[in-house]
Amino acid sequence: MIVTIDGPAGTGKSTVARILASRLGFEFLNTGAMYRAVAFACLQQGIDLNNAQAVGHVPSSLEIVFANNRLILNGHDVTEEIRGQQVTQMASQVAANELVRQRLVELQRAAARGVNLVTEGRDQGTVVFDKAECKFFLTASAEERARRRQRELLEKGEEVSLEELLIQQELRDERDETRACSPLKPAEDAVIIDTTPMSLEDVAAYLENLVRKRID
Ligand code: DC
Repeated sequence: MIVTIDGPAGTGKSTVARILASRLGFEFLNTGAMYRAVAFACLQQGIDLNNAQAVGHVPSSLEIVFANNRLILNGHDVTEEIRGQQVTQMASQVAANELVRQRLVELQRAAARGVNLVTEGRDQGTVVFDKAECKFFLTASAEERARRRQRELLEKGEEVSLEELLIQQELRDERDETRACSPLKPAEDAVIIDTTPMSLEDVAAYLENLVRKRID
């Protein structure tokens, strides 16, 4: 069975998907981390993000492996590095590149072969796994999403104002929602959940209930 969880940044997708996968005993795939890994590699290799052809070739030079919720890029654990501010902004630019998307979608489909999977991202229910049995789309208010991001950054020692985070968030949302290939939007058959007033544990429990009903 494939369970997809899509939605904009800060809606708690990754945390909810991880908890849900663990409760169900399913594998978990964080596809945002894959786009972040490509952005990080572009940064390391000094590739100009305006050069679509050069960016498009980056994924084929990379080995991306998930191990115990860590992302290993060409043998190095980059889990923390890819969550920083610069890579975050770059990732939404890289994610608009058609060649990058093609390659990462191949990897995502390969990861789903023969396993039960909870996968999260922007296009998992609409494009990558359009036949998935269970599709969810998480939303939350812009302020709540920015507050969650602020808390995450503070835990890493990065202090950024809410105003600045709201501006960055709006820019990324706009890029993710208006790009030509696989824009962020709910699948027609997705269940939409507003996570603003809920704890992420509660969201995961709610989704688990819906998935189990589908399994029975
Ligand atoms: O979920 P995240 O913030 O880690 O995602 C990083 C970027 O990658 C974000 O700008 C959206 C993009 N992304 C995408 O286009 N498709 C996905 N399946 C996952 C993420």
